[in-house]
Amino acid sequence: MIIHPTENTPGINKLSHIAFIMDGNGRWATRRGMPREYGHTIGAKVFRRVAEYCFRGGIDIVTVYAFSTENWSRPKREVDAIMNVFGSYLKMGLTDMAKDDICVRFLGEKTPFAPETRELMERLETESLGNRYKLNIAVNYGGRAEIVNAVNRLIASGAREVSEESLSSAIYTAGQPDPDLIVRCGGEVRLSNFLMWQSVYSELYFTDTLWPDLTDNEIDKAVENYYHRKRRFGKV
Ligand code: IPE
Ligand code: IPE
Ligand code: MG
Repeated sequence: MIIHPTENTPGINKLSHIAFIMDGNGRWATRRGMPREYGHTIGAKVFRRVAEYCFRGGIDIVTVYAFSTENWSRPKREVDAIMNVFGSYLKMGLTDMAKDDICVRFLGEKTPFAPETRELMERLETESLGNRYKLNIAVNYGGRAEIVNAVNRLIASGAREVSEESLSSAIYTAGQPDPDLIVRCGGEVRLSNFLMWQSVYSELYFTDTLWPDLTDNEIDKAVENYYHRKRRFGKV
């Protein structure tokens, strides 16, 4: 396992925040002759393993894209299945997370979720607050919705105009550094409304590997590739 340098190491990019677009669950299941829903069950297990692997490797913040604002338009049967997987994960997570020193934050508005689910989400956030490792789970997440909501929140608090600083403090990831590296599984080369504001200078890594097939080895490969990128941030 790669141990990520926490201090600035000359010649190697610091990696404090990694994000994953967990794509490919449906195709993974279809290829096995199984219903797409099965892919989401396995995908949730992989999510858990990947987050733990990254934290053990010394990465402080892990963000995962689990469900987009557009994913509600899928067939009801699939949406229900995803919500069931999410619900059971929440129940398990409540007891597990604190012990693993993980602080969970949900990125996305909670209003569309069932009251019981919302309560579990809020409890998990409150009970894990202050834990060392930051795990952001983007559910009902859209990058555009995030920006619009942030602007509306600022207006509601009396602001007449916004700045990059005020907007950064009103988005879901407020207080956290932007992702250094975004890894997308599943072969598509796009962001699909993920972290529009935060990703401006993120390094992007795309792999054909479907999310349920993502191995620790492949994560190391992405990270190794990232280490040696030339990050210029517009400078020379
Ligand atoms: C990602 O996998 C999980 C969600 C979007 C909820 P998909 O369900 O998009 O899987 P594919 O891309 O159809 O294979
Ligand atoms: C992106 O995957 C969203 C998540 C992984 C949660 P999609 O499968 O929804 O993206 P598109 O439709 O291929 O762009
Ligand atoms: Mg997909």
